[in-house]
Amino acid sequence: MTDGLRFPELCVPAVGRQPALILRPWRAADIPALAAEMSREYPTAGMWSRPGERPVRTALPGGAERRAGPADERDAARWLASQDRGWRDGDRLSFAVLEADDVGGCVLAGNAGLKNREETGRIGERETAEIGYWTAVAARGRGIAPAAVRAVTDWVFDSFAGASLRQIMLVHDVGNPASCRVAEKAGYPFRELSPANPPHWFTDGHIHMRLRG
Ligand SMILES: CC(C)(COP(=O)(O)OP(=O)(O)OC[C@H]1O[C@@H](n2cnc3c(N)ncnc32)[C@H](O)[C@@H]1OP(=O)(O)O)[C@@H](O)C(=O)NCCC(=O)NCCS
Repeated sequence: MTDGLRFPELCVPAVGRQPALILRPWRAADIPALAAEMSREYPTAGMWSRPGERPVRTALPGGAERRAGPADERDAARWLASQDRGWRDGDRLSFAVLEADDVGGCVLAGNAGLKNREETGRIGERETAEIGYWTAVAARGRGIAPAAVRAVTDWVFDSFAGASLRQIMLVHDVGNPASCRVAEKAGYPFRELSPANPPHWFTDGHIHMRLRG
């Protein structure tokens, strides 16, 4: 893998209410902002790590467990280390999504990441990858997630042109209409319903799919 693939920086220009964005791999400097965001709301989706490295599990009524995000800076650092390993091994490619602030810096606005649907192998080696994302609570409603998903999708199809990767899947709970809108706006048409399949996932979902080209 070249440095260009390992450390990409994607720039998305501002359009209307959607601010200009920079997407790049997560860095240690992001830990305080990530932990602060996690204390505002616990995203239970779009926080992928390797199966053995998922930082936190939350008990649900009935004894079931559900994956959730890091709870504090220690968890955030562990999550970040998992993302670093993902870039190194090429099997999980997560981008911090940053918005320029008024004083020449950047503020954390979200996350967008890729893994293989089968959770094995490097991205590009399998036909189907999956995309996940979240937007910081204060940054929602300005088209940040769709812009980030479009940028990561274009980047991965471009970077892995000629590889086996043929399509990217986007899955959300049926009770998450905001995510359904993200899919539509990012060019991922609805494909089919995905019925609940406990203990792997507990709610019915929508599968959206974007094909290469
Ligand atoms: C779903 C989510 C990623 C949307 O991100 P976003 O950057 O706000 O995306 P958009 O601005 O395009 O808004 C998407 C939809 O959210 C709704 N929305 C609008 N303003 C909103 C606000 N202030 N807060 C929450 N949702 C809002 C609208 O329905 C909007 O669709 P519209 O543009 O057709 O009106 C974000 O709400 C989130 O992070 N949720 C928690 C984690 C999650 O669900 N991740 C996805 C897992 S599949």
